[in-house]
Amino acid sequence: MAGTKHKTPLLDDLKEGKWPSFVKELERAAQKSPRTDDLIGLLEKSYRDHIPHWKHGGMAGVKGYGAGIVGRFSDSPEDFPGTQEYHTARINQIEGFFYTSDVLRKLADICDEHAGGLFNFHGSTGDIQILGFKQKEAEELFQKCAQLGFDLGGSGSALRTPSCCVGPARCEWANYDTLHVTDNLTREFQNEMHRPTFNYKFKIKCAGCPNDCIASGARSDLSIVGVWKDNIRIDQDQVAEYAKKFDIKKYVVDKCPTHCMDYTDDKLTIDDSNCVKCMHCINSMPKALRPGLQKGAQIRIGAKVPMVQGPRLGFILVPFYDINKDKEEDYTFLKDLIQKIWDFWDEYGTSRERIGELIQRVGVGNFLEAIELEPLPEMVEHPRANPFIKFEEYLVADEEEESKEG
Ligand code: HEM
Ligand code: SF4
Ligand code: SF4
Repeated sequence: MAGTKHKTPLLDDLKEGKWPSFVKELERAAQKSPRTDDLIGLLEKSYRDHIPHWKHGGMAGVKGYGAGIVGRFSDSPEDFPGTQEYHTARINQIEGFFYTSDVLRKLADICDEHAGGLFNFHGSTGDIQILGFKQKEAEELFQKCAQLGFDLGGSGSALRTPSCCVGPARCEWANYDTLHVTDNLTREFQNEMHRPTFNYKFKIKCAGCPNDCIASGARSDLSIVGVWKDNIRIDQDQVAEYAKKFDIKKYVVDKCPTHCMDYTDDKLTIDDSNCVKCMHCINSMPKALRPGLQKGAQIRIGAKVPMVQGPRLGFILVPFYDINKDKEEDYTFLKDLIQKIWDFWDEYGTSRERIGELIQRVGVGNFLEAIELEPLPEMVEHPRANPFIKFEEYLVADEEEESKEG
């Protein structure tokens, strides 16, 4: 195989598809970095043996930080000495993932000089990840990143670096300033990010609208999703233009999940009280339909990918709040809420139990009481399910009414 001294028939197979292959990129990096060449050999061995060849245990880090460096030690250093230590540095990404080409070149130089010449940009964690350095190189690598203005991100049982979609910087659908919230929360919660004291990881992601380009609803413990409160704005002239291009009834109205749209006599109407803000119609006819003008955010809690228990989507904790107004007060409501959630998790969570799992275990009612939020009918496990909470006071009220009526 070009670019590596190892025999890698299984990995070679992964270069054959029509899509870009990570194997080709590894090979390119291996031409400059012997340790990354050994990484290729180790990966081939993993594919052959059907087990990962990274061993558990071992510490890596930099002074003053309990998080941000993820230690990786191979269990086969005699065959692949370059992978004996192949650590990852999580570097706090820029909000919305904007970089100048100059800063990228400088980061790439650090990655070539002090690590395995490999980056992983913006996976689930959000951070930039520099791969393949040894403990003795960690401090210098970190110092060079710091001089460029980058801090470490979160790892281990700590807050992960909050992340967001591009929001109002480039997207007209943003209902709040995702970049500002992310920056503000990141600065506020430095201690929680760099010094692991939690039961497990905690992720915060900010999406400007329900399109959720940052996939917050599926993979962050706390997701803040921009929504509007009033009616979708309709431009009937533009609706007429779209009608010339495609069948509005078939492709938009009939696909509305709550069937709250109607297109009769060339006029589009929406029963907004039944709209669940799925964005389908707006995405399909962006010139004709726009979100309302009362913009804010919804807070969801408890999503995660599989680990201790299976995957979960978040559920709605706060259906709508005026996060734009809260900005003037430095997002006080949001920060207080997050703090209460952490206090509860800290008190009752078991080791490696994510907040969503804890809520499931102790019940939504107990959780809401602890964080001092009122139960709401919007709090459902998934769309079109019954609310978690039985609203007994209404039942009692009904019974009283009935007994009065005799
Ligand atoms: C059995 C072994 C492993 C399991 C079960 C595992 C599981 C996971 C899971 C579930 C995530 C996603 C976490 C999240 O963002 O919600 C993750 C992320 C990650 N893991 Fe592993 N992992 C394993 C081994 C490894 C190894 C061997 C490495 C590196 C050599 C590694 C490096 C990473 C990195 C860098 C991320 C962050 C990726 C991103 O944000 O896109 N993991 N791992
Ligand atoms: S989540 Fe919404 S606001 Fe953010 S980039 Fe995607 S479409 Fe735009
Ligand atoms: S946003 Fe979704 S639910 Fe609301 S009207 Fe459009 S398609 Fe229907």
